[in-house]
Amino acid sequence: MEHEHTDPVRAGRRRRVLITGAAGQLGRALQDVFSDDDLVALAREDWDVSDPPSYKLLQGGFDLVLHAAAWTDVDGAEADPQGAAAANIGGTANAASLGAPLVAFSSDYVFDGRKGEPHFESDGPSPLSAYGRTKLHGEAAAGSDAWIVRTSWLFGPTGNNFVRTMLRLGAERDEVAVVDDQRGCPTFVGHLALGVRELVDAERPKGIWHVAAAGDCTWAELAEAIFAEEGIDCRVRKISTKELGRPAPRPAHAILRSEREGAPTLPHWREGLRACLTELRSEQESNEAK
Ligand SMILES: NC(=O)c1ccc[n+]([C@@H]2O[C@H](COP(=O)([O-])OP(=O)(O)OC[C@H]3O[C@@H](n4cnc5c(N)ncnc54)[C@H](OP(=O)(O)O)[C@@H]3O)[C@@H](O)[C@H]2O)c1
Repeated sequence: MEHEHTDPVRAGRRRRVLITGAAGQLGRALQDVFSDDDLVALAREDWDVSDPPSYKLLQGGFDLVLHAAAWTDVDGAEADPQGAAAANIGGTANAASLGAPLVAFSSDYVFDGRKGEPHFESDGPSPLSAYGRTKLHGEAAAGSDAWIVRTSWLFGPTGNNFVRTMLRLGAERDEVAVVDDQRGCPTFVGHLALGVRELVDAERPKGIWHVAAAGDCTWAELAEAIFAEEGIDCRVRKISTKELGRPAPRPAHAILRSEREGAPTLPHWREGLRACLTELRSEQESNEAK
């Protein structure tokens, strides 16, 4: 039998898209950007991806799977590497087992950052942390019918992320201590989701793609930008990674750039920051109006 889902547009029906990790920050942004598709959005309570898919899911007739579920607690993965592996390696293999084209998300943490220059798709990975190792093995578990989207330092209006943490701390304190010796590309989930849509809709070849915001900065510079944009009077004391003393090692220079023709180009991180802050403000205003 021919696969009826190979060309849903010609078949005159909407593309059927499964999103895993739908309650996460990227999962939510993907739901917005793919909202004109026939969406099935599953949070962890609907499908724990470390378990194989149900018969119902296997029969789901999906044209595309956007696999945003993941163990993202980088320090927690050092204490429980098996738990992180079950979600990030087993979970990706389970998403691939649905047999539909897959978008799997990976990370700048597959690199050790010692190159001191931007990392391209052809650079050899060498993860420093348990989390980075699970993401790298997860890439292999995605199989050959997958776009593997490596991205970096995600933030959005929901969930646990650096921007939301700084807004909270900046409102409570006069000073925050922030690491100034790690450099990356802070990427707004709304911009990433649009880049993913471009990759899929343009039917770019499968394989690894680096998709991250233009520009780069340190965490301390990002904190300063957040306070400047919001007019928050809070000093940023610049510290080293060693001073912070987190359990998981992180790459010092984790800038992702693409060398592939047709790679989506995302706006600068500062533009992403402004878009995120605008969304947060309008959410706050609509909550206050209730
Ligand atoms: N965040 C970053 O800075 C960053 C950077 C580079 C790449 N990435 C990658 O980008 C993707 C999206 O990350 P994100 O920032 O959106 O993460 P997130 O906000 O933490 O969302 C991940 C979601 O997956 C869920 N989840 C965890 N384990 C699961 C499981 N076993 N089964 C089903 N759902 C599970 C989480 O649920 P709970 O909340 O209940 O745990 C959460 O809702 C991930 O692949 C991540 O590795 C993230």
